[in-house]
Amino acid sequence: MEFLQRYKQYGSFIDEHLSTFIKRTIPRSLYEPANYILEAGGKRIRPVLVLCACEAVGGKKEDAVHAAAGLEILHNFTLIHDDIMDHAAARRGRPTVHTKWDASVAILAGDVLLGLAYRALLQSNTASIQELSSIFTEGVIEVCEGQAYDKEFETRRRVSLDEYLLMIRKKTGTMVAVAMEVGAILGNGSAGQRAALKSYGELVGEAFQVQDDLLDVVADEKQFGKAIGGDIVEGKKTFLLITALQRAKGEDKRLLQKLVQEGGVSKRKVDRIRRIFLSTGAVEAAEIQIANDIAKAKEQLKVLNDSESTHMLSWFADMLLSRKS
Ligand code: IPE
Ligand code: IPE
Ligand code: MG
Ligand code: MG
Ligand code: MG
Repeated sequence: MEFLQRYKQYGSFIDEHLSTFIKRTIPRSLYEPANYILEAGGKRIRPVLVLCACEAVGGKKEDAVHAAAGLEILHNFTLIHDDIMDHAAARRGRPTVHTKWDASVAILAGDVLLGLAYRALLQSNTASIQELSSIFTEGVIEVCEGQAYDKEFETRRRVSLDEYLLMIRKKTGTMVAVAMEVGAILGNGSAGQRAALKSYGELVGEAFQVQDDLLDVVADEKQFGKAIGGDIVEGKKTFLLITALQRAKGEDKRLLQKLVQEGGVSKRKVDRIRRIFLSTGAVEAAEIQIANDIAKAKEQLKVLNDSESTHMLSWFADMLLSRKS
């Protein structure tokens, strides 16, 4: 079967599970926004990776569905709170929860999703539940640390590329690595297989965030489902800004420094900044970084048995290189 078709099938398998998972409808101000974000689509990358990792070590995807759903719900919790923190108006092509309702509703909807994520995970029928819960929990803590760095860096004059990498590994890489590790455990993988899949997740996760930074600048707004230039307006220390700051000269450098000093710019300057990101080669550097990470991620798969699922993981890593949303 074609990999894209299989990816969509796995996504539908998760969606079916998610659609029956939240049974309660009241209080409406809690469950409406929680369902609103879950039903808005999304690529379902993390839960699909849970299923693939489980299969790649010889397990059955049905055994991983609860944990997979749990991880997607957890991800949606982080998105609701992230959009408040980033003042983002659109997500998945729709108004964000705090714009459609308000910040209080969004905070609480995020909170309940965190609880629901654990409820889903704990339905996993496995002797390893304590280990899974621990990995999940450490993941939540890492994401919070990453998100804290992300906000702290907004108002910091200087952020090195290494600091940036630490931040994105925590805020984004962790959850992708957790997906891989959880899947490998549920499929009863060996310690070696688990380590390889986790490492694949870390590398893919890192590439995924650099790509996200890139798409903030070059994507088509409709396809991306989020506002273009949002990171620039918010003064985010992205891969592009950090690299362009190192390379720009003259007037361009002064404009970037002003952006940093003021912690962002107005939306009408986004085009000019985009051109600086292109002319300094920051965009190209991001593309190279992503390609290197993806190549390293695929290397990790070599210790696994040659199966349809490992091929799928390899395809998946390549697919990220060309993603538009
Ligand atoms: C968005 O994640 C947050 C980041 C880590 C960049 P996704 O791009 O996976 O979002 P959805 O779930 O597909 O909407
Ligand atoms: C989000 O990073 C990471 C988490 C949600 C934990 P971003 O802030 O770049 O994600 P988007 O671009 O809003 O999806
Ligand atoms: Mg953010
Ligand atoms: Mg954001
Ligand atoms: Mg982003």
